[in-house]
Formats: sequence, structure tokens, C-alpha cells
Amino acid sequence: MRERVQQIISQALQELDATRTLNDLEAIRVKYLGRKGLITLLLRGLGELPPERRPEAGRLINDARASFEAKLQSRGEELAAVERERVLAREVIDITMPGRRPVIGSMHPVTIIYNELERIFSRLGFEVVTGPEIELDYYNFEALNVPKYHPARDIQDTFYVSEDVVLRTHTSPMQVRTMERRKPPIRIVVPGRVYRSDASDASHSPMFHQLEGLAVDEDVTFADLKGTLEIFARDLFGPETEVRFRPSYFPFTEPSAEVDISCIICGGKGCRVCKNTGWLEILGSGMVHPNVLRNVGYDPGKVSGFAFGMGVDRIAMLRFGIDDMRLLFENDMRFLKQF
Ligand code: FA5
Ligand code: MG
Repeated sequence: MRERVQQIISQALQELDATRTLNDLEAIRVKYLGRKGLITLLLRGLGELPPERRPEAGRLINDARASFEAKLQSRGEELAAVERERVLAREVIDITMPGRRPVIGSMHPVTIIYNELERIFSRLGFEVVTGPEIELDYYNFEALNVPKYHPARDIQDTFYVSEDVVLRTHTSPMQVRTMERRKPPIRIVVPGRVYRSDASDASHSPMFHQLEGLAVDEDVTFADLKGTLEIFARDLFGPETEVRFRPSYFPFTEPSAEVDISCIICGGKGCRVCKNTGWLEILGSGMVHPNVLRNVGYDPGKVSGFAFGMGVDRIAMLRFGIDDMRLLFENDMRFLKQF
């Protein structure tokens, strides 16, 4: 018995001496004191000894365990200290090194224009509202006086999610959603992403940004539309900017107009950017079609309204002299940092 105990304890102490890591140390603890550890088994074996030999054997084993535990503890402290030294050596900080500058972000050109647009239109009493990019066909087309199979909803331009659900092709559905929920007077602008299955090129992107505007009240006239858009254009592009209304067609406005500004590059004399016309197209607009008012339960005999929708990416390109729309969406920091 005595020899067996001595053999185990001297073996254990040797192993403790030889360990290099806290992990190994734990393995040794388990080997000797774990549930099936060698010292644990010795203690359990006591019951099989004749009663008169138990006290002495018990003392022997407990002494062995005590010296094992003492050694385990001191070795644990030594190893922890060594490990701490190693970490400190590895993580040494050279406080004489120059700091690393945090990278400061900058505003995306489209965001800059959106912020300006919201400032301009809120000053004119318009409230900003937003709506879903995944939209019911009803709001994107039907309620806007574009029936199924109308050529204006050319299937090529629309991403269909299902028969009745589309990725909105413009922000105009929010005209209908807002009018359904509220009574006139209404004055809103709607910033947001829109989607069309257009191929990417210098002036087209399958995902782009619009800002919609809508004003509905008693006696809203085309003159209100003209005045509002003139103030907007001169605020955004400068006080010398000329604004021109050209007759156009949209199913949800009547009459409709496309709005051009005098070329901000050449001032109207004619250049490459305005293709020598002196004018740049910036938005579509018109008086809200009576059918649209009826679709939301308004009486076209009592209220009238105007609406407009602009391509914000193209406006950002004009304002910042960007000649390719794809630059806006490539996330090249060298480009984006310039704004
Ligand atoms: C519309 O989307 C109408 N909802 C605008 C409107 C609103 C008219 C309210 C009347 C009343 P249009 O399809 O022309 O109209 O698009 C408006 C603007 O979006 C264009 O002038 C252009 O600046 C921009 N745009 C159109 N397609 C693309 C595209 N693929 N990539 C980038 N910009 C585009
Ligand atoms: Mg157009």
C-alpha cells in the first residue's frame, strides 16, 4: 500500500514539474484527481481494506493528495505568470508610433441632392413621406390610370415579383397611397429607390432614385405647378436658371409637361452636355388626372392637384458634373470621397 501510494505521488509530482502549459496542468489534475483519477481511486479503495488498516492508509493517501494539490497550485501560479509575460511581450505597445487616422466618411452625391431637395420643398410646405419599393401592381399602375395591357407599362421595363406585385418603377404609387389615407390639402414629396429593367449605361441604371411631389387642394392650378418648380430649379441650380415647360404625356396627369432647365454648363448657348440644344430635361409633371382623383374617392369637381417626378441621379450628375451614372453605384472610395 505505502509503496503504491509513494509511487503514484512521486510520478504525479514529476509530471507537474514537467508541464509547460496550463492546459497540460489541467490534464494532469484530471488524471490524478478526476472522477477516475489515480488518487481518487486510491481513496475509494480504502473501503476494501480491513478496518484496522484503514486509518493509516487513509492518512497516507490524504497526505499524498495534499502535497499533490499544493504542488498543483504553485505550478499553476508559475505557469500563469509565464503566460502573462508572454502575452505582455507579444502585445507590447509602442507609444512613439504615429497614430492611424480614422477614415472619415463623406456623403454620397445622391444623398447630398436628396438633402437639398428636402430642404427646398419643406420650405415650400411639403412634407416628406416614404413608401414600399416592392409594390402592388394596383398602386404602381392601375390606380394611376395605367390599365393592364396599356402600352405605357411595357413589360420590358418592369421587374415583376408576381402577377400582382412589382418592384415600383417610379415613386408615383405614393401619390395614391397618400391620397387614400388623407384628405386634402395634401403637400408631399417622396424620395426613394425605383427599379426598371433598363441596361446600365452612362445615363441609365436598373435601380435609380426619384423624388415625387404632389399637391392637392381646392383651386390648385398649373400656375402653382410652374411657380413651385421655378422656385425649386433656381434654388437648386442657381438664380439665373431658366425653366421651360414642354407638352408631354403621362397617363396619370393631364395636361402633362416635361420640364427643362437652361444648360448649367453653357448657360443655354449649346454644348456637349445639352447636345447643343441649350436645355436639359430634369423632370416629368402635370395636373393630377381626374381618374386618379376618382380612384382615391376624391371629387375632381371639387379638388385639383399637380404632381411631378424627377430622376435624382441625373440631377446629381448635372450638379456635380458627373458624366457616367455607373460611377454612382460602384462604391469606389476615390470617387465618393470627392463630395
Ligand atoms: C416617371 O417616372 C413619372 N412617374 C414622373 C411623373 C411624376 C410625371 C408625376 C408626372 C407626374 P419617367 O419615366 O420619365 O417619368 O422618369 C422620370 C425620371 O426618371 C426621368 O426624367 C429620368 O431622370 C429618370 N430615369 C428614368 N429612367 C431611368 C434610368 N433607367 N436610370 C436613371 N434615371 C432614370
Ligand atoms: Mg422620360
